[in-house]
Amino acid sequence: MKEKEILQLMQKMTLEQKLGQMSLCEFGDLMQNSDNAFTGPKGEFALTASQKKIVGGVLNFKGAAEMIELQKKHLEEDPNKIPLLFMMDVIHGYVTAYPIPLAIGCSFDTRLAERCARASAVECATGGVKITYSPMADLQRDARWGRVMEGFGEDPMLLGQMASAFVKGYQKNVDPRFVVGGCAKHFACYGAAEAGRDYNCVDMSDYTMNSYYLTGYKACVDAGVTMVMTAFNSLNGSPCTGNQMLRRKLREEWGFDGVVVSDYNSVAEMINHGYAKDLREAAKLAINAECDMEMVSTSYLQTGESLVESGEVSMEQIDKCVYRILSLKNRLGLFENPYGAADVQAEKKYYRCPEFLALAREAAADSSVLLKNEGMLPLQKKEGIALIGPFADNKDIIGSWSCNADTQYAVTVRQALEEEGVSFVYAAGCGDKLDDRDESGLDEAVKAAAASESVILCLGESMRFSGECKSRTEICLPEVQQKLFERVYAVNPNVSVVLFQGRPLDIRAILGAKAIFTMWQPGTEGGRACADLLFGKSNFSGKLAMSFPYCVGQLPLYYNHYNTGRPFRPDGNLNEWKSKYIDAPNAPLFDFGYGLSYSKFVYSDAKISAAQLGENEKLRVSVKVKNDSDVDGKEIVQLYIRDEAASRVRPVRELKDFKKISLGAHREATVEFFLEKKDLAFYHDDGGVYAEAGEFEVFVGGQPSELLCMKFVYTDKKNML
Ligand code: BGC
Repeated sequence: MKEKEILQLMQKMTLEQKLGQMSLCEFGDLMQNSDNAFTGPKGEFALTASQKKIVGGVLNFKGAAEMIELQKKHLEEDPNKIPLLFMMDVIHGYVTAYPIPLAIGCSFDTRLAERCARASAVECATGGVKITYSPMADLQRDARWGRVMEGFGEDPMLLGQMASAFVKGYQKNVDPRFVVGGCAKHFACYGAAEAGRDYNCVDMSDYTMNSYYLTGYKACVDAGVTMVMTAFNSLNGSPCTGNQMLRRKLREEWGFDGVVVSDYNSVAEMINHGYAKDLREAAKLAINAECDMEMVSTSYLQTGESLVESGEVSMEQIDKCVYRILSLKNRLGLFENPYGAADVQAEKKYYRCPEFLALAREAAADSSVLLKNEGMLPLQKKEGIALIGPFADNKDIIGSWSCNADTQYAVTVRQALEEEGVSFVYAAGCGDKLDDRDESGLDEAVKAAAASESVILCLGESMRFSGECKSRTEICLPEVQQKLFERVYAVNPNVSVVLFQGRPLDIRAILGAKAIFTMWQPGTEGGRACADLLFGKSNFSGKLAMSFPYCVGQLPLYYNHYNTGRPFRPDGNLNEWKSKYIDAPNAPLFDFGYGLSYSKFVYSDAKISAAQLGENEKLRVSVKVKNDSDVDGKEIVQLYIRDEAASRVRPVRELKDFKKISLGAHREATVEFFLEKKDLAFYHDDGGVYAEAGEFEVFVGGQPSELLCMKFVYTDKKNML
């Protein structure tokens, strides 16, 4: 359809029909023809049978058959024959589950992220999905927040790269039928919910927001994301769904002309926030902030006509919203083919096809992080093993928000070891609940451990304990799992702990293990990837995208913090009146960027091409990396800078670039990076982003504690980017 035709279509539409386009309901609600099928808490969102015929979008449906049925019914009933936009939360796969986004972040592999997103798009498009509510581009510094599993960690640069790779994966495909629109969420700063409690308020300086928290959404907008979702939280006193930041930042400053959708019921929730006195005011605030589509609550349809009549919302504003929605439907090809790739037969072909399962297995191995290894792994023998723990034979490891992925198809560690012909004894030892107190299985586990040469102990947090509304105040392993570790370790110290988790956990209780690695929530093929890693068929190459705190009291925690006026130096003395805790270290247990491998990477010859960098110049930073081992591997080479003195305090380190390289055994490579003025620039009070002249440190390396440091001077005065 041409732009002119969209405008012609809009001319034919009544105001109510336009408000219908701006509304989005759940599948179940739309399938009912009666006047008010909304029950329970949704009762106040009653729509008449005729209103249901004109809504613009739908979420939460299951597969092609449901999609085709509803689209067909809708096209028969909608007076303007405008296809519905079908949307779902395809967060880390649709039917094949890939590792959770936080895990993918740890792969530092944007190609892998893009491939997983593209494969998810093929599956979900076949199931009728046209928009996925992904990626989550919220920066996260607080592991208490259950939704950290959906994001890419604590670094704004890595987050931006990963989130935009997801957008590309969804939105770019040689076969246009498999293009799915991405939706960057949750604008803005949802990841900073106070005290890590979901839906909680956010109060944040302009500097922090612009320097760190907005980077992820901006990267998605720059990558051409089709949709942006507002956040549940209030931000500096205004709930995000009615916050004028949508207009000022997203539309005017960043030029985003795609669709803004509210979060689930977040328009109506502005009443609970104490920001709107009723649904009518909530609709007014949201529409006037340029929130085009309302999810689930129906204030637009119920009160929009009266708002336009009174002049509180202009017809021009409504038309802008509707134009953006229809343009998106057009861009996704809905007017030509309202069913897209939805196809019940093709579902059988693509769902969990061998190619996607292989990708899921590869991704799960590449996003696992080896935290400790005292010569324990890889295991040399496929016998004499005790497989113990509540996650050893547990299918609840695919990750929350796993859409239509059925846990019954998940491969557990136990199944994978059986497939590999490993000879082992198995004992769960305890249950997988956070509050499990049943110790009756411990004895059996201890017996199995005592009778074996080595132990694989699978511990952690089930997928049900992270995700939306799963905030925790304690982030330790449950007590019974700690006991299981202690008792097993007492009879057999050759323990390798495999962690399953949706967030960084306080794992001090198991630090004594000879080897520890995390698989996060690894998706459908988690068990097989685990076996590959345990026996060395795969090598570890992930590094932490989010620090593991020493204890919960350190949160929020992030490596790119400021120095303070009284920095604590772990190796120094005279530390008494310094910024520190008296009962815990400042340092995390495991830092951002940390992760081991079966290969041994040695760094040397770090060089910069000049001692000075001018305005239009590039500084070459290079380093030699040698794989000093007999094992082929992949290494994530990281580049950080520090601005030593500036008009605003700057982080002690900030990631500016990284490269994931493959290095065969005993091979060596020189890795190069280039720094230029944009890499030194930061957000200033006047809204400008520019670098300041002065001294900088530059760090390169593969582990945060072993970075090689150099210095240079940036000579330019003040130059806007
Ligand atoms: C979540 C969103 C999600 C939406 C639709 C909300 O509760 O915050 O991230 O996209 O539900 O399922």
